[in-house]
Amino acid sequence: MAQILVLGGTAWLGRAVVRQALAQGHEVTCLARGDRPAPDGARLVAADRHDGTIEPYAALPDTSWDLVIDVARQPGQVRGALAALSDRAAHWVFVSSISVYADHSRPDADESAPLLPALIGDVAQAEEYGAGKVACEQAVIGARGPHALIARPGLIAGHGDPSDRFGYWPGRFALAAERAEPVLVPDRTDRACQWIDVRDLAAWLVTAGVGGTTGVMDAVGPATTLEAVLYAAIAAAGFSGRVVRAGDEALREAGVEEFMGPRSLPLWLSDPAWAGFLDRSGAAAAAAGLGHRPLTETVGDALAWERELGLGRPRAGAGLDRPDELALIAALTH
Ligand SMILES: NC(=O)c1ccc[n+]([C@@H]2O[C@H](COP(=O)([O-])OP(=O)(O)OC[C@H]3O[C@@H](n4cnc5c(N)ncnc54)[C@H](OP(=O)(O)O)[C@@H]3O)[C@@H](O)[C@H]2O)c1
Repeated sequence: MAQILVLGGTAWLGRAVVRQALAQGHEVTCLARGDRPAPDGARLVAADRHDGTIEPYAALPDTSWDLVIDVARQPGQVRGALAALSDRAAHWVFVSSISVYADHSRPDADESAPLLPALIGDVAQAEEYGAGKVACEQAVIGARGPHALIARPGLIAGHGDPSDRFGYWPGRFALAAERAEPVLVPDRTDRACQWIDVRDLAAWLVTAGVGGTTGVMDAVGPATTLEAVLYAAIAAAGFSGRVVRAGDEALREAGVEEFMGPRSLPLWLSDPAWAGFLDRSGAAAAAAGLGHRPLTETVGDALAWERELGLGRPRAGAGLDRPDELALIAALTH
């Protein structure tokens, strides 16, 4: 049994990490601000890391950790944790992102691709997410040299997803199936699509971390196509209605955004500058044991989560509100 400290553990991926660690028989402590609970079976230590100092970590037991897993986005928080805890941690995993890369146009790129310039300062604003993660990675490498695992996930999918992206498709087909209505999809479904199931990622972060795996690795699934995701979503939703296809230009003219955000079609990426974003190599993590469940399972989990949230809800993070989608379909097919 390993003593694992999760810096985080109360949100989505962090909770999944904690659950996987507990299921593997480890003892887990989480450090977070304390407004949200940690999963049952884990100890939660409440502390606020926002000032980037070592002070918040004084709330933790004065012990050594077999593994620390940090999901932070803020360089100051990452530096503070390393200063306070690195000497007492046998293994360290930092959850970064493929958003660290400077260029997303090239399919099959790997970890050798150039990165964004690192953020200067302790706090990354939302639009500085990638540069902030670069600075976090540099802090980890600065403190631990090669003795850390830096995992760069791509799009994470599955139950509990707060981003409204991957789940949009099974959720939308399910809503349309209930109402016997059509669904709007991008015409080009042959473009690459890639995700990592939250449970597969969490399990790997724990096993690789406990096992002492080190290095920098893109944590992504095998690349397939948007078509494969849409077919799986249609099957999971039991949808047998009409699919209305719209070309890139028509969607853009209608003001529909790509990939994410308000009034978007999730996972639709027509901009050549993003042609490789959902199409990374992933060979290093695969060689280090990152495995993947079938797409049908991830889509099923995402659909269950969408049903819990409410299929007809306004789309906060990504997707089209249903009335807007129907109006677009009417305008595109008049
Ligand atoms: N979603 C994706 O598709 C995707 C893709 C690539 C990479 N990622 C990465 O995957 C990770 C996702 O982590 P997550 O789902 O667990 O969500 P998150 O929202 O990024 O997790 C933040 C965690 O840190 C804690 N926290 C935040 N501010 C804090 C503070 N000032 N002091 C102490 N604790 C604080 C939060 O807990 P409290 O709020 O309870 O304090 C929460 O447990 C992130 O590293 C993200 O960058 C995500």
